[in-house]
Amino acid sequence: MDKNLLGSLYDPEDFKKRGHELIDLLTNHIQDTISGTNPKTIRWNEPDQELSFWEDFLKNGKEQDFFGEILNRTTHIHHPKYLGHQVAPTLPITALTGMLSSLLNNGMAVYEMGMSSNAIERIVTEKLCKKIGYNQHSDGFLTSGGTLANLTALLSARKAKIEHDVWNDGSIEPLGIMVCEEAHYCVDRAAKIMGLGEKGIIKVPSNENFAMDADKMETCYQKAKSEGINVFAIVGSAPSTATGAHDNLENIKEFAQKNNLWFHVDGAHGGAAIFSKKYRGLLKGIEEADSVVIDGHKMLLMPTITTALLFKEKNHSRHTFSLKADYLMDAPEEDEWFNSGKRTFECTKNMMAMHWYIILKIYGEKVFDDFITRQYDLAKDFAKMISDKPNFELATLPMTNILCFRYIDANLSLEELNSLNQTIRRELLEDGEFYVVQTKLNGKHYLRTTLMNPFTSIEDLQLLLEKIKNNAQKLLAKKTS
Ligand SMILES: Cc1ncc(COP(=O)(O)O)c(C=O)c1O
Repeated sequence: MDKNLLGSLYDPEDFKKRGHELIDLLTNHIQDTISGTNPKTIRWNEPDQELSFWEDFLKNGKEQDFFGEILNRTTHIHHPKYLGHQVAPTLPITALTGMLSSLLNNGMAVYEMGMSSNAIERIVTEKLCKKIGYNQHSDGFLTSGGTLANLTALLSARKAKIEHDVWNDGSIEPLGIMVCEEAHYCVDRAAKIMGLGEKGIIKVPSNENFAMDADKMETCYQKAKSEGINVFAIVGSAPSTATGAHDNLENIKEFAQKNNLWFHVDGAHGGAAIFSKKYRGLLKGIEEADSVVIDGHKMLLMPTITTALLFKEKNHSRHTFSLKADYLMDAPEEDEWFNSGKRTFECTKNMMAMHWYIILKIYGEKVFDDFITRQYDLAKDFAKMISDKPNFELATLPMTNILCFRYIDANLSLEELNSLNQTIRRELLEDGEFYVVQTKLNGKHYLRTTLMNPFTSIEDLQLLLEKIKNNAQKLLAKKTS
């Protein structure tokens, strides 16, 4: 590479100029999306068209249009009519910590490559442990996503509960975990990565509210045992993804304690409610969990990807990935909290602790309480509005800010209703004013909303229902004409 080119890549003036342009663009983006001036949450494009656009742009596009095109071609999570997946409308301040992490690029695996971020991570995770209700024996770390955190927790569970050293010697018997059939698919994936196989994922059926049916735990456990499976952990969803239903953590805790199982809470979405005075009760029992996952990039207003994995017993957080046998356990070098890579799946990770820290420093934890409480309250108001309308049906009453409903018409069969709701969702996507997603529950097709945006009002939700009703009536009229 020629020397002049290399020098110009790092030209501070060039960085400043482009940086200012981007900040101006993002400032307008925030203003236009939050105020709803921008009429669309998504400008839908078919995947092949999108691919062609970017292939062509690489050859013919103008460099100065790149940032703007990205904005045009992404889903606007800051828009009040964004009601889709569980991704946070990031606080703008955390876009700046994101930039800081990208430029400094301290990978954190060893203390020297991230002194401040390793120290900050410890402060943040200690605070989270306290909020959960853990004592001074607890600790945790941040890792790259709920999926990876759930896998890590289950690896810790196996290390703690299975006598045989599976990590070093491999498995010598069928092992298993218990989880509600409604849990996020990443728990299945973690179990499969761990070699538990389909038989080792003991699915506890859900009740009519789509939460784990606690009465079925014992039968499922005994059946697995009778088939020779050594069950070592049970996972509670707080909440599950599709409907936002919280498993009863107290029941699961008692069951786990009685049977000497590791009790893990997947609180990727709703673990954040430890900050909500009003909704903390949904998590009763979490303080007895052996491990807890909480995503910052879901209900805590941070960018992807930053997840806390917290342990009731700090030893468990430190020995999951030990390469040697347990004789190292008490060796002082194992207690190196500041060398983050010893405890995480990743070697290099981004300086994600800064997002948590800057929010706490500037705004304090009240911002989390206000946000979570508002969004959960809004879902309850939305549910009431839906229940009051004859052409709509809720899947179940919302426990969080996730709410599933469908358009109904007494003259239509289940298949016709499913097809109608699927078409409604497709039309909403192509229209782009609102962004909602979909799910299937007990064979019924539902529209699924997650109220992630602090600017979504009950009036916006009213407009959504009107739009759906109009679309449905047009579709039905077309069918009969
Ligand atoms: C309950 C639950 N667990 C885990 C995950 C996966 O988390 P991540 O997307 O951070 O990997 C999700 C994602 O939606 C979730 O809802």
